[in-house]
Amino acid sequence: MPDDRHEPDLPEPYRLACVVTDGTVSEGIAAQSRAINLGFHMSEPDADFLSHFARYVAGQRLWAVQGSPDSRELPGLPVATLSSYDQTINTGHGHLEPADFITDVTVRPTHRRRGILRGLIGHDLAVARRSGLSMAALTATEGAIYGRFGFGVSTQNQSVEVTSDGRFVLSHQPEGSVEMVAPDQIDELRLDVFRGFHHSHRGSHGRLDWWVDFASGRWNYETQQPDRRVRSAIHRDRQGRPDGVVSYRIAEDHGSTMTMTVDDFIAENADAELGLWEFLASVDLVTTVKASKVNPETPLPWALRDPRVVRFTRRSDLTWVRILDVAAALRARGWDHAGSVALHVIDPLEWCTGTYRIDVAAPGETAEVARVEDAAAATIGIAALGSLYFGGVGARALAGAGQLRGTAEQVQEIGRLFATDDLPHCISAF
Ligand SMILES: CC(C)(COP(=O)(O)OP(=O)(O)OC[C@H]1O[C@@H](n2cnc3c(N)ncnc32)[C@H](O)[C@@H]1OP(=O)(O)O)[C@@H](O)C(=O)NCCC(=O)NCCS
Repeated sequence: MPDDRHEPDLPEPYRLACVVTDGTVSEGIAAQSRAINLGFHMSEPDADFLSHFARYVAGQRLWAVQGSPDSRELPGLPVATLSSYDQTINTGHGHLEPADFITDVTVRPTHRRRGILRGLIGHDLAVARRSGLSMAALTATEGAIYGRFGFGVSTQNQSVEVTSDGRFVLSHQPEGSVEMVAPDQIDELRLDVFRGFHHSHRGSHGRLDWWVDFASGRWNYETQQPDRRVRSAIHRDRQGRPDGVVSYRIAEDHGSTMTMTVDDFIAENADAELGLWEFLASVDLVTTVKASKVNPETPLPWALRDPRVVRFTRRSDLTWVRILDVAAALRARGWDHAGSVALHVIDPLEWCTGTYRIDVAAPGETAEVARVEDAAAATIGIAALGSLYFGGVGARALAGAGQLRGTAEQVQEIGRLFATDDLPHCISAF
């Protein structure tokens, strides 16, 4: 059970409860699942869905807000939900920092805009902070909701459409080989390759077990059934070690233009990424391959004889991070540059407000962080710090956007210190 000594700040008459999650279907689990599906406009859960849900949320903090006991509206169903669990985020140089992952946030339409989300998320973050976590993370249905609670965009979701006709020709042959595999026979391999990816990619978020069911086609959470159209292929390096795995579906279309949708693409390195792309583009009858969560530094267009075969179609926020403990988060970061800066941090929830001196003696060293008095320090909001932290945005852009205020020299120094050799790359929605 979570430490919930923090008193939730919910308006009257709402009360907060924490649902027991032991992997089995109970009345509380069924009500929570129904409320979540209502919030996200999904079908009412049936028995099969409930047993999957119960298994997937085992061990999570399942917060349920109950309305007035006198209400006749949907008796027994919480009016709002929020789930959270501990998972890790790669903060650079292979460090996996434990964080509070927030998901399944819903408020029933008839109870919206009364401050329920504010009370619920404030409570969950307070519990996480008290338990010693230095950051929280989520993905958002809408971009305007979470900045006010101190969340900043930490990784971007890049989508592409690749023309997979005769124009797809790589200008060099990537190392290794690709083979097709039975999607539901490679769970351990998927976990291993993801582990390798997670350790080697700044900004990567850890995953729960459900994604293996999804990538294998055993269970699609949205359609609430198995998906037998899923196919998989793996990439092996020169030594035969698997270092890439992809799952995809090809839409049922008896015409001459078939579209492939990539559901999951894990590549530990450029050879695995290019090798798997070459395979996907070689599948007969398919003319377009659509993929999201593509590496922001993908070598693909640079490796093609005709780079126009790749169209970057959409780029938007993927993960948002809320720093809960500035000093702990900065000490957990992998630094690519040395430097010394002072930052005055402003936190709408007040937890992190203060001025911090950050010293990194040499690239790869742990930052020394101290609270100081420095009226001349540059100023940044806690949400913008969450973005700067992962290196996906630079100090200059944040200053231009009015999110970082300081002299030109201060902005330059902060930019140099926070610059990363790698762009953050996350392939895990949650
Ligand atoms: C998004 C949602 C959870 C908001 O819940 P809520 O209880 O109405 O939110 P609150 O009343 O606590 O609002 C807190 C603040 O956020 C703002 N806000 C809430 N939802 C917002 C939205 N969709 N867009 C922009 N601002 C929003 C409110 O205006 C309020 O701002 P203020 O404090 O400056 O006045 C709810 O509308 C919902 O369930 N939506 C459908 C499911 C969904 O999208 N969930 C989010 C998953 S990431």
